[in-house]
Amino acid sequence: MQILIVDLGSQYTRLIGRTLRDLGVRSLILPPDKAEAWLAGHRGEVKGVILSGGAASITEEDLPPLIMPRGIPVLGICLGMHWMARDLGGLVESPQTQRGYGPEEIEVLAADNPLFRRVPRFRSTVWMSHGDSVTKMPPGFCLIARGERSEVAAMSSDDRTRFAVQFHPEVIETQYGTQMLAGFLDVCGTRQDWGPTDIVAQIREEVARAVGPDDRALLAFSGGVDSSTLTAVVGPVLGDRLACVALAHGGLRAGEEVEIIKNAAAVGCGHPGAPSISLIECQNTFLDIMPTVGIDPEVKRKSFRNLYRLQLEALAERHRATILIQGTLAPDVIESGKSGGAATIVTHHNVGMETTLQQVHPLANLFKYEVRELARHLNLPPSVSERKPFPGPGLYCRIVGTPVTPELLDVVRWADVEVHRVVREAGIEDEFDQLVVALLGSKIAGIKGDGRAHEYPIGVRAVRTTDFMTCYGYQFPPRPDNPAPVRKRIERALVTHPKIICPLFDESDKPPRRTEFE
Ligand code: XMP
Repeated sequence: MQILIVDLGSQYTRLIGRTLRDLGVRSLILPPDKAEAWLAGHRGEVKGVILSGGAASITEEDLPPLIMPRGIPVLGICLGMHWMARDLGGLVESPQTQRGYGPEEIEVLAADNPLFRRVPRFRSTVWMSHGDSVTKMPPGFCLIARGERSEVAAMSSDDRTRFAVQFHPEVIETQYGTQMLAGFLDVCGTRQDWGPTDIVAQIREEVARAVGPDDRALLAFSGGVDSSTLTAVVGPVLGDRLACVALAHGGLRAGEEVEIIKNAAAVGCGHPGAPSISLIECQNTFLDIMPTVGIDPEVKRKSFRNLYRLQLEALAERHRATILIQGTLAPDVIESGKSGGAATIVTHHNVGMETTLQQVHPLANLFKYEVRELARHLNLPPSVSERKPFPGPGLYCRIVGTPVTPELLDVVRWADVEVHRVVREAGIEDEFDQLVVALLGSKIAGIKGDGRAHEYPIGVRAVRTTDFMTCYGYQFPPRPDNPAPVRKRIERALVTHPKIICPLFDESDKPPRRTEFE
């Protein structure tokens, strides 16, 4: 492992790891209390240390003494910068102005500094963090970039082995962030050691270690890109000691059971000696609790997660499995608040589940586009590698503000089919990464036939994204470059249902929105 990333709790920490992987370099993310000991045991191996950003202020955060190993280059990002500045004798202060993040222009003052050598322009946009800022640099440091308010945007030690930035080079909004991180890797002298073949080998090793030769494992199989690719990766290691189970929990879309079985076959399930696949009909178990669950989205998600866990535990017993292998990805871990000190943005159906089963999450450092790359590398069909995501709780979290009933599930399932049909016919499916169709529970006024009606609007939302951490709301045509009246066609299709008044198109970005409606 060449680069150690010390996680101070930023929701972007895993993006640092991702960018390094894009640059072909492996990294390990550890919290500060584990980082020091790990470093001591891996001195020869580590070529550089990155101190991540964090949600807290340096004045509030109880950080251990600065991790600054001798002879190894260090890059501090945001809170990492403040940690470095404070402990090396500089001054960090909280400005009176509001805290927050946003795009800002910086001016590079030392274009020959390794951090900026690959950056082609003196002025560029960065994703600036307006938390604390360095008001006095530590002795032996110089200013290498300044922000719009003349603040210290980046500093470097005179010997060019210690660097720190006030902004986040790891997020896509920082125009030359990848070049800056590449510049840091130049200083570290890393070599390329990361690619799909390495990832597959690493996951297989991890799973072989976790699942002993006499152990059996269970994998919750949704037919989506994550669990399908994971099965393809670990199937050859575990063979028929792996039982893949798909829960038909009542919130699946039309025809999804068939797709699940097809994708399971495509990733090698169901042959002698290979992982098994079974579809578990458990609709009633989930539907039965809905009247008591009510409409609070968090209660609904937690109730779903609990039932999901009970189902898996029962299935594990049936298959004599003691280990649960899950296709959890980096954004799931980050947004569930399980990475460093990142805030909880969503309660995922399979993250933070307290179960008696031993859990293994081999994809927890990867982002969706990386899993898609793995799937392509393994020659899996496009029905797996290009499949658009669908949340584990399914249509249960696509009925918003009114209790879930079998009848409403049928309405939203029907609406989902119709919207997908129009979109497919218009040939615009590839213009976005996910399409969300949800029943919004507040009835609104309309006209059906000759009479007044109060029925449901359907939320229609598509997003463009690479990692689902941030998304752009997609604008359905008509647009100047594509005159097909897709919005109108969606409207015409949806209003034929007696329970639907109209579509409501949601084109907002994440943040402030999320992808799903709840
Ligand atoms: P949000 O709404 O948080 O969604 O922006 C980001 C991505 O995660 C999916 N999602 C889930 N996937 N279990 C899942 O497997 C869940 O509980 C869950 N909740 C949201 C969502 O569909 C989007 O792709």
